[in-house]
Amino acid sequence: MEIIRTGGLGFNFKGENEQSIWALQDINLTIARGEFLAVLGPNGSGKSTLAKHFNALLLPSVGEVWVDGLSTSVEDNLWRIRQTAGMVFQNPDNQIVATTVEEDVAFGPENLGLHSAEIRKRVDEALELVDMSHYRRHAPHLLSGGQKQRVAIAGVIAMRPKCLILDEPTAMLDPRGRREVLDTVMRLNREEGITVVYITHFMEEAVSADRVIVLLNGRSVLEGAPAQIFAQAELLRDAGLDVPPVVALVKELRAAGMDIPPEVMTVNGLVELLCS
Ligand SMILES: Nc1ncnc2c1ncn2[C@@H]1O[C@H](COP(=O)(O)OP(=O)(O)OP(=O)(O)O)[C@@H](O)[C@H]1O
Ligand SMILES: [Mg+2]
Repeated sequence: MEIIRTGGLGFNFKGENEQSIWALQDINLTIARGEFLAVLGPNGSGKSTLAKHFNALLLPSVGEVWVDGLSTSVEDNLWRIRQTAGMVFQNPDNQIVATTVEEDVAFGPENLGLHSAEIRKRVDEALELVDMSHYRRHAPHLLSGGQKQRVAIAGVIAMRPKCLILDEPTAMLDPRGRREVLDTVMRLNREEGITVVYITHFMEEAVSADRVIVLLNGRSVLEGAPAQIFAQAELLRDAGLDVPPVVALVKELRAAGMDIPPEVMTVNGLVELLCS
């Protein structure tokens, strides 16, 4: 069963001299319930524009987008669509709205008009899910980047979305923060069954996804399992992207005569193989 579908989606805007510029063209994508989809692409390829179509922050110029069966082009659907697909953005500081972690996470459910007992329950659960319960009374702006971003994720989770859309959530974080956020998102996907659309420019963050799409100049140019995508080093390089470091290393090891299966794309995977 699908949770998001785009049919012939195109989005244009007026550039200088009033000429029409296409930020997205002919995107036909079906995202299954429970899927972890990674979206890759160089700067300006249309990743954020696509993400904003998934919760009706932007509406198609042509084609249509359905979220849980609801067309984003129908105004009466907006409220339900925004509850179904929650967004997390790049800069955690821009997403903080309160002076304590728990108030911050409560902000969304409060706006849903829920009773205080229900809000309490959801805040506790959400903080537990992102492993931030200990920090409930802390001031968000004093947390590390990775912790702030996990609080932002908890704020969205507390609204009980079926789908989590993250637009380069680790771009401003150090390696440790990046690991924390990716691990959290993967756990929400695997254990809670939340569908994830994960936009990133860190290739290695896409290796555990169920599926990867690569955008270039507003079009989807590659689509497949991570191993399939990263096997196409040349195409990726043409798109201004690189293969993840471990994939590049494995390629060298293979060239040197080692037999390494295609699914080995992470440091842990490689270590396990080499030690066995
Ligand atoms: N309303 C708009 N007005 C002007 N330019 C726009 C508008 N919407 C999108 N663009 C342009 O469309 C292209 C795609 O932008 P988008 O932000 O989706 O790319 P991106 O892949 O998210 O890039 P980045 O990696 O830098 O975040 C860019 O060239 C952007 O400048
Ligand atoms: Mg972007």
